Amino acid sequence: MKNTVSTFQKMKDEGKKISMLTAYDYSTAKLEDEAGIHGILVGDSLGNVMLGYEDTISVTMEDMIRYGSTVTRGAKNALVVIDMPFMSYQTSVYDAVVNAGRLMKEARAGAVKLEGGVKFAPHIKAIVDASIPVMAHIGLTPQSINAFGGFKVQGKTEAAAKQLIEDAKAVEAAGAFAVVIEGVPAKLAKLVTEAVHIPTIGIGAGPDCDGQILVYQDLLGMFSDFTPKFVKRYADIGTIMKDAFSTYIKEVDEQSFPEEKHCYTINEEVIEKLY
Ligand code: KIV
Repeated sequence: MKNTVSTFQKMKDEGKKISMLTAYDYSTAKLEDEAGIHGILVGDSLGNVMLGYEDTISVTMEDMIRYGSTVTRGAKNALVVIDMPFMSYQTSVYDAVVNAGRLMKEARAGAVKLEGGVKFAPHIKAIVDASIPVMAHIGLTPQSINAFGGFKVQGKTEAAAKQLIEDAKAVEAAGAFAVVIEGVPAKLAKLVTEAVHIPTIGIGAGPDCDGQILVYQDLLGMFSDFTPKFVKRYADIGTIMKDAFSTYIKEVDEQSFPEEKHCYTINEEVIEKLY
């Protein structure tokens, strides 16, 4: 059954945990969907894990549409949320609505996500008024990496913790259907989760959020540039891939691949006429 924003709210109301993963391509989205994931995020983390940038700053709307549309084609049941990249909404409320609309029309998103709390409440409200569901993202927001001065846990002082709660309340009041909380102390994330009615989706925010999200390459051991403390590795697919690649290289070198069963046949008479 297709998950929608209402499914997420129902799950919070019934005390059921929401699971989300990122995906950036058709095949991965299909596998996650078949496994029963509730929501898939086409994160602008694709800047790191797919495009090899150091951060998410250079990701464009065209990147999000190209990768996002492959995921929406692969996911039959999961709610697909597509990230609004850096400078696609910060510039004005008008730009926010136009670019959110592009993600819905051109990539067929089920919802969009943008980073920011109180300051971006007007942008969220305008997008929601255009009938586009918005997932907000507060705490450690990677598009603000240069303003933060690095990937640092957020909300550790009294003022910062109060601000985080205000941010969550503001995005809820603006109409966001859910909010991602990233890189904040677990006890603070619990307080935020209790302070709002919409579902909170945690990443590096402890077990008391209403749901969890991870970047799938982190979970599968496929990305080794950096591994945050909050990541749990569920499989070592990176090693399995490298071993398979090495075996293939060796077999090509030794000429043990391809074997007869991998070859197409032709009538011998045809071959003879070629000599
Ligand atoms: O871009 C992304 O993958 C994200 C998640 C880490 C929440 O925003």
